[in-house]
Amino acid sequence: MENQSHIRNFVIIAHIDHGKSTLADRFLDLTKTIPEGKMRPQYLDMMDLERERGITIKMQPVRMIYHAEIQNSKFKIQNSGSEFILNLIDTPGHVDFSYEVSRSLSAVEGAILLVDATKGIQAQTIANLELAKKQNLIIIPAVNKIDSPQAKIEETKTELANLLNIKKEDVFLISAKLGTNVEKLLAAIIKKIPCPSTLPDFVEGGFRALIFDSKYDPYKGVIACVRVFDGEIKVGEKIYLLAAGTEGEVKELGYFSPTLSSQKALRAGEIGYIATGVKESGKVRVGDTITKLKVKSEKFKVIGAEPLPGYKEPKPMVFASIYPEDQNDYDLLKDALSKLKLNDASLVFEPESREFLGRGFRSGFLGTLHAEIVSERLKREFGLNLVISTPSVLYKIIKENAQEIFVKSASDWPQATQIKEIREPWIRLEIITPSNYLGKCMEVLEGTEGKYIETKYISQERILLVYEVPLREIMSGFYAQLKGKTQGFASMNYEILDWRRADLVKLEILIAGRKEEVLSKIVSRNSVHLEGKKMVERLKEIVPSQLFSVALQAAVENQIIARETIKAKRRDVIAPLYGGDYSRKRKLLERQKKGKKELKEKGVVRIPPDVFLKMFTS
Ligand code: GTP
Repeated sequence: MENQSHIRNFVIIAHIDHGKSTLADRFLDLTKTIPEGKMRPQYLDMMDLERERGITIKMQPVRMIYHAEIQNSKFKIQNSGSEFILNLIDTPGHVDFSYEVSRSLSAVEGAILLVDATKGIQAQTIANLELAKKQNLIIIPAVNKIDSPQAKIEETKTELANLLNIKKEDVFLISAKLGTNVEKLLAAIIKKIPCPSTLPDFVEGGFRALIFDSKYDPYKGVIACVRVFDGEIKVGEKIYLLAAGTEGEVKELGYFSPTLSSQKALRAGEIGYIATGVKESGKVRVGDTITKLKVKSEKFKVIGAEPLPGYKEPKPMVFASIYPEDQNDYDLLKDALSKLKLNDASLVFEPESREFLGRGFRSGFLGTLHAEIVSERLKREFGLNLVISTPSVLYKIIKENAQEIFVKSASDWPQATQIKEIREPWIRLEIITPSNYLGKCMEVLEGTEGKYIETKYISQERILLVYEVPLREIMSGFYAQLKGKTQGFASMNYEILDWRRADLVKLEILIAGRKEEVLSKIVSRNSVHLEGKKMVERLKEIVPSQLFSVALQAAVENQIIARETIKAKRRDVIAPLYGGDYSRKRKLLERQKKGKKELKEKGVVRIPPDVFLKMFTS
């Protein structure tokens, strides 16, 4: 059996911006993983988009080698041997990317839980801790940014110790920026996090690796990011993906350093990549188990065939339409979405088509930031120009004939007479706020259809506020409003609870009497008048005036609930005429009148496409 005692696999988890990537930088420094002159801040945020926005979107594994006895003789490290392999996975902090976090967690044995001393425990700190506990990981708590003048070191240490039910002395105090105490933390990783061990159901001679991520490489095909649980695999060996039932061959394998570093073999306990030789992107799925195929009496037999526990697929609850600006790019968009899905397992999409927009896709996301990031990645990584609708949530409708349907877009909303019951997703919303902003937070929440559940003190000054709210309510502008009212101090996290009854209607828009389906929206019956009014007012601002007056109407269940009128544009047809040629003037005016009448009869309202785009995307 391969000796795994020198390997430690761990993640850094934290709320957004608490310093995960910066701490990873210090580990990279200590282990001299990045060649001299190549280091840059937040090294593991490898996408341009991550660097520009200063947020981590993708998990990123890296393998580091640490010479403990040479550099670190003051810390007594058990498990003799001077060289340790540290496999670190840097994870995102935003709630929309928690699927990335949960997948990283099943590839490791331990987690550093990092809390920013200037902010204290935040919503995502608790959410990520819960995920780590579920995986039975060893948790090492650390308070970061102790160098900052705003740091509340003692308070944060106490909060963290209380949260974990441990002694205050067991909380590490570090500055990821300056490197203070980071080496102590590294020694604790080696001491406290167990080395990987072989699973009880291991079959001698077998091989099992869990796919926790994947990506597409134009030269190497589909690359699976794996944690090897048992056995060993070499280049050229035949593999079998258990859930997909797909065969492949190891074209290349290796470690993340953090770029791909090709090796001869991957062994139990290690984290690395396997270029699978599989061409179809849909066949290499995260959560699947890679095993080996062995030739046995002419037949292929799978060795070590019990699948590893995979992942619960996340269910997207937020949907938006994506269309190529140029319809000729439709196939490119389709291909780009499939490739992106490899690297973003929570993305789903299906074709749809619409007037004015042509052919595109209805795509599902884990949240609005996720939708924004996907569209940005499609634009950048695949050079596509896109039109993206405002995201909306998924609804469940029980029809009069007892049929149950899921509705992802207002255009699929059934006739009111066919609807027996509407249900929508509700969330448990957790907000952490300084206690002096509690009132402000509640003000924002009272403006929703949500229900107050409870408040809990997490320290003397800070409160956890819990509400249950329809997901629909936090789709546009909610977080910005919360941040605005609390001067940026409140943080939030949510999880989907269940489907609850909703009183919703389809708001339709008519321009010059013609229903414009693309502008339809699903709204709460209570706010439909307000929403209808807002929409026609906005349209009045952006639809250019026509030669005749145009009615802009909002309707619900065939009743008009709001109206605006765009006055006719009077083109001065007689301006070019000087002097008193009266009969000529009259002739021109009459011709104009006739033209207007004709246009109106035909109902030809000249609406530039960007009006639809503006309404569709705002
Ligand atoms: P996400 O991955 O987007 O959630 O962020 P992150 O947790 O990786 O945080 P990141 O390392 O990007 O750091 C966020 C900000 O905090 C950056 O501006 C860092 O320079 C700063 N920062 C990180 N560690 C320290 C520290 O120890 N002291 C101080 N003063 N600033 C720090």
